[in-house]
Amino acid sequence: MLIGVPKESAVGERRVSASPGSVAQLIKLGFSVVVEAGAGDAASFPDEQYVEAGAEIGSAKQVWGADIVTKIDPPSDVEVSLLRRGAVLISQVAAPRSPDRLESLAAAGLTVLAMDSVPRISRAQALDVISSMANIAGYRAVVEAANVFGSFFTGQVTAAGKVPPAKVFVSGAGVAGLAAIGAARALGAVVRATDIRADVAEQVESMGAEFVAVEAEAQKSTDGYAKEASEDYAAAAARMYAEQVKDCDIVVTTALIPGRPAPRLLTEEMVASMKPGSVIVDMAAGSGGNVAGSVAGELTVTSNGVKIIGYTDLAGRMPTQASRLYAQNIVNFLKLVTPEKDGVLVLDQDDVVVRGMTVVLEGEVTWPPPPVAVSAAPAASAPVPAAEPVVKKKRDPRLTWTVLGVCGLALLGLFWVSPEGLLGHFMVFMLAVVVGYYVIGNVNHSLHTPLMSVTNAISGIIVVGSLVGLSQSQHDGSTNMAILILSLAGILLASINVFGGFTVTQRMLKMFQKG
Ligand code: NAI
Repeated sequence: MLIGVPKESAVGERRVSASPGSVAQLIKLGFSVVVEAGAGDAASFPDEQYVEAGAEIGSAKQVWGADIVTKIDPPSDVEVSLLRRGAVLISQVAAPRSPDRLESLAAAGLTVLAMDSVPRISRAQALDVISSMANIAGYRAVVEAANVFGSFFTGQVTAAGKVPPAKVFVSGAGVAGLAAIGAARALGAVVRATDIRADVAEQVESMGAEFVAVEAEAQKSTDGYAKEASEDYAAAAARMYAEQVKDCDIVVTTALIPGRPAPRLLTEEMVASMKPGSVIVDMAAGSGGNVAGSVAGELTVTSNGVKIIGYTDLAGRMPTQASRLYAQNIVNFLKLVTPEKDGVLVLDQDDVVVRGMTVVLEGEVTWPPPPVAVSAAPAASAPVPAAEPVVKKKRDPRLTWTVLGVCGLALLGLFWVSPEGLLGHFMVFMLAVVVGYYVIGNVNHSLHTPLMSVTNAISGIIVVGSLVGLSQSQHDGSTNMAILILSLAGILLASINVFGGFTVTQRMLKMFQKG
């Protein structure tokens, strides 16, 4: 089958649905490819590169007359009229917002596979353009903020004085939010983030940011997206936002609940409380806005000097990278539906991924698809009464000091009655605990597996030490029971750590082995 790659027609669109790299992969799948002349220019893919990869450069007529046409933006009415009956269109379609477009695509006798309707399940991640574009957009949101922010992101100590790091607050820790956290951390900012799904705290922390919790009833749905906030949650969250935005220099909002207008998170009063020169990037500006005063597609400046960025083309502002990822998503989809690698599509409607993406099948509207449950989602249980919003309580410092005091006194008593030499050993032990706590506590979560290998090595040292102790437990024909028991316990516990570590590592490695 012939795949046509047209030049995008939407105003300001610089992306293209195939890259030279993706063309080579499509050809390996048995397809022929024709690219419209100049289609990749704005994404820095000149025609020659497509030719080198094995594509033909053709006219718009040739491209739109292909068996399969791939696109980035939903097709215009004129473009729909250029497609031939029976052709397959692979494009973003915005199906939930465009019933009329679906009807006209069906009336044209097409099959339409919507790249923006990929179900959010692990198996489909490699084809999910919403995620790949949101990842780029989150990164770009921080770059845009840095561009108009008047100071450093990273803290500096200069000859002229100390510069504190910028404080960045990210709301919504989905794909875009996590990418924004990563970019802001990489620039050296201090980053905090929140999300209605409290279970993303670990992901936020693994990116090096602090999770600001507004704990309430668990917010989880069966399709991998957040549910709307309860009134109680909204009130507790509003207090938290008021506190955070006043303190931060950059705010990036990415909160989204699919199928609904964007939740309003920042009120006019909150924006007014921010410092002059602060920057807000409202990534949801195109779908109603998370921030009062944001304007879709524009940068506005409030009367108190806060810049609000409402750009809706953040991914498109990095056209080369965005085109590469989008094109790879299409290749991954075509791999799924070309099992024989013979250039022939097999659209198995029993496959939830294919069914989810098929919005028009041979001239019939098939949208919406049946709901897909996320395999990791918990099974439905009896309704739980709405919980009161809980704001994290701080531990009473008096209790901490009392516990420390009692422990200190107990230790003093122990040293009083203990044999000579114990104090020295104990000091070494305590120092090792303190150093170990700070060293291990600062190891990134992603490095915990190698860390486990290090603890295995330490366990080896403990085993050797315990064996030495064992030999010393026998002295002048008598047995020192205390040394004997401690040595045996040391050997046992360290061995559990060594063998347990190997077993866990083995299990983890199996997770990455194919078949
Ligand atoms: P996502 O679904 O992966 O993440 C959204 C996050 O918001 C989820 O983690 C969800 O739990 C959280 N959330 C929902 N309601 C919330 C609330 N009331 N408070 C705090 N968190 C809340 O979505 P993704 O893909 O990361 O996209 C985020 C936003 O960025 C969307 O609005 C999307 O339309 C927009 N976007 C904008 C682009 C642009 O150029 N401006 C480009 C790409 C995406």
